[in-house]
Amino acid sequence: MHPSLRFSVAPMLDWTDRHCRYFHRLMSKNTLLYTEMVTTGAILHGKGDYLGYSEQEHPVALQLGGSEPKALAECAKRAEDLGYDEVNLNVGCPSDRVQNGRFGACLMAEPNLVAECVLEMQQQVSIPVTVKTRIGIDEQDSYPFLQDFIETVAATGCETFIIHARKAWLSGLSPKQNRDIPPLNYQRAYQVKQDYPQLNISVNGGITDLEQAETHLQHVDGVMVGREAYQNPYILAQVDQRIFDAPGEPLSRHQVVELMLPYIEQHLANGGRLQHISRHMLGLFQGCVGARAWRRHLSENAHKPGVGIELMHEALAKVPLAQPA
Ligand SMILES: Cc1cc2nc3c(=O)[nH]c(=O)nc-3n(C[C@H](O)[C@H](O)[C@H](O)COP(=O)(O)O)c2cc1C
Repeated sequence: MHPSLRFSVAPMLDWTDRHCRYFHRLMSKNTLLYTEMVTTGAILHGKGDYLGYSEQEHPVALQLGGSEPKALAECAKRAEDLGYDEVNLNVGCPSDRVQNGRFGACLMAEPNLVAECVLEMQQQVSIPVTVKTRIGIDEQDSYPFLQDFIETVAATGCETFIIHARKAWLSGLSPKQNRDIPPLNYQRAYQVKQDYPQLNISVNGGITDLEQAETHLQHVDGVMVGREAYQNPYILAQVDQRIFDAPGEPLSRHQVVELMLPYIEQHLANGGRLQHISRHMLGLFQGCVGARAWRRHLSENAHKPGVGIELMHEALAKVPLAQPA
């Protein structure tokens, strides 16, 4: 298993882009970072640079969306050639757009197809091919249903599953509702680990602090944190010491901003917009005096044409260095 599986930041469309990952990486060297889901269609036929990332982001996993074994295998190969540390298949996204393409969570109903996809990908690459799934879809939410899915896919040699511990309703709920309304059932993920101890199981969904993460780690191999890591990113600063037993001290929030400045300057020098990066940093000071002023100064100004690095300094000056205990 990839040692970083123990703690990861979830793939999140529009959120975990390369700038976000660079920022997260400053706070934790060990956390496994996932890209946004990238579809095979975008990679094979699109014009954008969907796979670009910075060397500093390692360990970094590419999440793919698709259900065509050959296309997935070709994308996995490209990912390996580019140096990604893992390729992950999305079997959890419930959006309509994704279902029409016959991938995402609806693939839970087609374990043989998922197995075929994973096998084809594995044959192309030597980096781990992993699967992120739900615990069920629609009325198919029994443990035997999940077991059948896991067994079928694991038979290919796939060793690592990330389980978002709630089912998805494929019609009637929006993707956002599908992240909140179906109840969490961590026991299901724990049960998978008990029944298949040889597999690496990471649990995902609703984890909001490191105490919870530590509790889950008594039952499974890894935890994946999504929204909390994005909205309150400083949670990552203690991960290396607490979850990976690494030596050293967490950076302060101010230090994190300082370390972002050269990266932001480079981005601006390349013609990029400040907002592309600062938007991921809005939650950095959550819980601190000045958090609101920081957030507001950035969100009200970062989109304006021509704003430069001084905006970051101005925003930082609004947060006192010494915080009340
Ligand atoms: C804005 C947003 C975008 C997401 N995009 C993806 C995605 O591209 N691929 C995926 O597998 N899951 C995606 N998810 C789901 C998360 O990876 C995660 O499974 C879910 O948010 C539950 O974890 P959490 O409660 O820690 O946020 C997304 C979630 C959010 C909030």
